[in-house]
Amino acid sequence: MAIRKIRKIGDSILTKQTKEISEMTPRLETLIDDMLETMYDADGVGLAAPQVGILKQLVVIDVSEGADQPIVLINPEIIETSGEQTGDEGCLSVPGKAGKVTRPNYVKVKALDRNMQPVELEGTELLARAMCHEIDHLLGILYVEKVEGELHDNRPEE
Ligand code: NI
Repeated sequence: MAIRKIRKIGDSILTKQTKEISEMTPRLETLIDDMLETMYDADGVGLAAPQVGILKQLVVIDVSEGADQPIVLINPEIIETSGEQTGDEGCLSVPGKAGKVTRPNYVKVKALDRNMQPVELEGTELLARAMCHEIDHLLGILYVEKVEGELHDNRPEE
């Protein structure tokens, strides 16, 4: 496993569309492991493949306290949302900053897991926010486009 370089805001790769993944390969297995290691190393709760320069539909998330419950989502798609939450959000591609974003409070996602098996995952609160944020990355959207008001300085956590 290896820590990959995280692309920062201003890098045009972060605004590009991503491609669906059709089969698991050894390269993708390595990418998944590297993305998890990179996310944990940076104390993040989520990371999307474009953030490490790969235009594929792959995200990793871990919102658990112990950072020991990794979620891998391939070709994720939001199929249901409800409610609303407004709170601070950050991004490893926008270091040291945070800003207020409104997201659904409940999200259901359809995806493939790392074995390319279909899964559905429901989340509320931080997990719902993380799923929305990471799936936005796959569409070339950074949270700063959705911020209400100004970005402010923050500990680089998310
Ligand atoms: Ni992000």
